[in-house]
This record gives sequence, structure tokens and C-alpha cells, in this order.
Amino acid sequence: MPDHLCTPGWWSGAVGYELYVRSFADGNADGLGDLIGAREHLEHLAWLGVDAVWLTPFYPSPGRDAGYDISDHCAVDPALGTLEDFDRLLARARELGLRVLIDIVPNHTSSEHPWFRSALEGPDSPHRDYYVWREPKDGGAPPNNWVANFGGPAWTRDPAGRQHYLHLFLPEQPDLNWELPAVDAEFRRILRFWRDRGVDGFRIDVAHMLRKDPTLRDNPPARRTTREPGTVEAWDRFEHVHDLDQDGVLDIYRGWRTAVPDALLLGEVYLLDPVRTTRYVQDGDGLDLTFWFGPMVADWSAASLRRALREPDALASGRIAWVAGNHDGARPASRLGGGPRGRRRSLCLFTLLALLPGMAFLYQGDELGLQDGVVEPADARDPIAVHGREPAAGRDGARTPIPWRTGHGWGFTTAPRPWLPYGQHTERDTVAWQREHPDSWLHRHRRLLEVRRQLRRDGAHGVPQWLAGHEDLVAYRRDDVLVAANLGSEPATVPPAYSAWQVRFSSLGRDAGSHDGVVAIDEALVLERGRGRGGTSSAGTFEADVVSRAGQ
Ligand code: GLC
Repeated sequence: MPDHLCTPGWWSGAVGYELYVRSFADGNADGLGDLIGAREHLEHLAWLGVDAVWLTPFYPSPGRDAGYDISDHCAVDPALGTLEDFDRLLARARELGLRVLIDIVPNHTSSEHPWFRSALEGPDSPHRDYYVWREPKDGGAPPNNWVANFGGPAWTRDPAGRQHYLHLFLPEQPDLNWELPAVDAEFRRILRFWRDRGVDGFRIDVAHMLRKDPTLRDNPPARRTTREPGTVEAWDRFEHVHDLDQDGVLDIYRGWRTAVPDALLLGEVYLLDPVRTTRYVQDGDGLDLTFWFGPMVADWSAASLRRALREPDALASGRIAWVAGNHDGARPASRLGGGPRGRRRSLCLFTLLALLPGMAFLYQGDELGLQDGVVEPADARDPIAVHGREPAAGRDGARTPIPWRTGHGWGFTTAPRPWLPYGQHTERDTVAWQREHPDSWLHRHRRLLEVRRQLRRDGAHGVPQWLAGHEDLVAYRRDDVLVAANLGSEPATVPPAYSAWQVRFSSLGRDAGSHDGVVAIDEALVLERGRGRGGTSSAGTFEADVVSRAGQ
């Protein structure tokens, strides 16, 4: 195994890859991606140069929310494989030097989970209190005004009784009651089950939601008007002050540390507020890392992006898992303008993220510069499109199958039909074509990861210092490395102190070596101070160019 995987805190500076199992590769010819297909294609990740793979849920599930509705936490969905397939995948990952993270979904279960079925038997069921039950208001209205992420009220009446149960997602995803120690004990057992099988860590689904206001107060109306990806419009009409991000959530993760002491705990803390988000990692005894979704919603402007990067880094440097895209939002290549421009910007953005302290995650297909696939409403699978009736906000476009090569099934499946349409790809989108072409998006991503690895070995570990006074450039320096991205509509130049530095990477594929100080439109450059050459900058010049984090 490569040495950088052996030390504690292996994730510091590592690159992760989100493998969306259902759409990665189908190994049993039923049109749905699975664990066999994932294992057979893991080499792609090793070749690309990532350090860790995050597998999205593969557990038994009725599939109402693409597997985020789990009916058995310690098994594999028969449509996706078996536990033996999981073990084989893990063994293959080890051979390739890849760490493996799995999704853990503690906020809710499927309504088909034996705990919920038992809870439905009535107030005397031993599992009744595993979920959140309340009496309706007079007249039978739901207990409070909370709404579900996917539309409709967050409460559904027990079909056989008077009480309502809480679900912040679908009615088929009842929320667990995290006030109950037995629920915590169940999850520690689940974590240990997978840790004993050999996983390296856990991506904790909606990690900020587990605890709720004990008195279940109404949420006030929203003060902002922005839409969040991955939710319906009704969700954004409220300030979510009582249904999520409550005190006490961190205590849960502190306890989990003792259950799985050296597993990585990575939270999906979807708060879009750097102060609130970084609370989950600041103490050093809560989560190890938190995802930060600012870059997925930032405008394409230097000011907006700088804000999305600087503050979380300043608050919790090294503890952020940076993402430009995932299975819950539009692909960056589509979101940032579509076509060649969208692809250029997507890699420009990822370059900025990839050299920051912490971990950076690539979402499958983004390394190919894929655009969102077109999914007609009749083919939609995402509950936002189906249940919430908001096809435009649906997340299926980012979840269409990976095109491995041309021909029937795009190398994804040999079945007559895939579970989601392919989208609209050309040969140039395929892994096969891009691997043959050194100037492809795939090769450029690979080069970037290679440079990142080398710089990490060479000790570019310093805290980022951000370049000031350049309107369209977002740039930071870490020791002898400068990362500079041009978000303007004119070519920009780096300050003279850096013009003799060597180009280690250009997101536009410009030759490495010396440069003229120019950063092209939508380009990101990684520059390194020349060793033993003229390219040095005195500390004085550096200080004048750069604002320190303290002075921001
Ligand atoms: C997370 C997942 C998303 C899922 C939701 C409910 O946000 O990323 O796909 O729908 O949680 O589990």
C-alpha cells in the first residue's frame, strides 16, 4: 500500500471520488449499476489517481429515494450484489491502494425497515419510540408547520391510529428519534459491523439533522429568497431553525468516535453557512471532516467564489471536504455555462478546490466533463421530480449512467434499458475515447491529481494566503505554490513576483514550464517557485501582494 495511506489522518490532502453505485457500472445485466460493476471498474479510479472512493448506499431499499431509504443497514440489496461482492470490492480497492468510505444514513430509515414496521403495530411496540410520534393539533392538523425536503408536510398520520410521525424527507423515510439511547446503540453496532469488514470511514448523510427542537416549535418564514439544490420550493419558504442543526448533534459523533476510533467521520452538513457548518469539525472531537457546499452554489464571479472558499478555510483549515458537484446538484459543467465553456469552468473550479487543505471530492463523470443528462419527466426517478412535482429541480440529470465506451449500453450495461436514460452523450464523452486522447478532460484531471500528489510530497502544506487586489483572479499561495484562477472576461496577469514561477498545471492544457504571467479566461494555473532558478520572490514582495488570513 502506498505510504500516504498508512498514517492516521490519511485523509488530510487526499482526493476522494464519489461513486454513485446505481449509475457507475452494471455487472449483472439488469440495467442498474451494482457492486460487481463497481469492482470491475475500480481501476479507472486508481489510474485517475484518487486516494479514496465513497460508495453511495447499496443496502436493501425499496428505492424510493435511490437507496437513501434503507430497510436493512447490515446487508446488500440483492439488485446490487451480496456481502461477498462487497468484500471482493473492498479487497480490490486494497490492491489498488484505494481507501473505501461508505454512506451511513442515520436520520431516517425506510418505512419498510423492520423497526418502523414494528413501530406501526402501536404505542406498545418495542420500536415505537425509535421514531418521532406526536398527537395532531385540534382538528387533526399536523403537530407543527414543518415541511419535508421533497414536498408536503413533514408529518404523516399513522394509518391505524391518531398520532403523526415525522419525516423530513419522504413519508417512506420516517425520521429516527435520536433522543433515544437505543437508536444510538443500534448505529454504533452498524458502524462497527462495517468497520470490522474493513471500511475506512463513513460519509454521514444529512449529519446536521439528527436532533430536533425538543418542543417541536414551528419554523419561522424564510428571510432569504435563494433556492437550495436538492429541495423543493416549499422547503425554502422557511428558516430551518428548529428542525435541524440543533445543539447536541455533535455529542452523537463524539460517541461514535469511541465506537469506531480510527474511522474517518465525514459529515454531509448541508447548511451553506460557513460558521454553522464548521462548528461540526472545530472541536477536533466531533467529525473529522465536513463537506462544504458553497462552491456548488457560488456564482461565477471572483468575489462570490472567494467568499465560498476563504471563510470555511479560515474557520476550519484542513477539516473541509471540498466539492464542486455531487449526486444532489447540477453537474458543474452544466451549471457553469454548459458546452466547452462549462467544462473549462468546471475544471478551473476543481483546480482551486483540489489544492486547498482538507480533502477534495470528484463526483463520478465530472472528470469527463459530463453535462447533465436529459431526463424526460416520464423517465424521472428522483422524488423531487416525482413526489415534489418539480421536474426542473429534479436530481436525475446528474445521475445518468457513466458512458464507458460507444455501442449498446455505452459499456454501462448489456441490459436492453438502463434504470435512468443515458442522457445525450457523444463518443468524446466516453472514458475509452478520453483515455486515448492526452488532451481530454480525463487526462487533465489526472494530471492535476498527479501534481497535487507531488506537491503534497514536496511539502506544500502551508495555510493558504489569499491574493488581494485582483478583481477577477481568485488566487492563493501555499508555501511555494500559487493557485490562480481567472473568472473575468479578459485575460489577467499574476503579480510580477510570480511571473517567473513555473507552471505545474494549466486547466486549459497549456504547456507546463515557464509562463508569461497570463492567466487566460476561465483558466486555473498551478505555479511553483522554481528550484535553484531565478524564480524567487522576496518575502517583502510576497507580503505586499498577499493578505494574510488574520488580516482578511
Ligand atoms: C442526502 C443525500 C440525498 C438524499 C437525502 C435524504 O442529502 O445526498 O441524495 O436524498 O440525503 O437521505
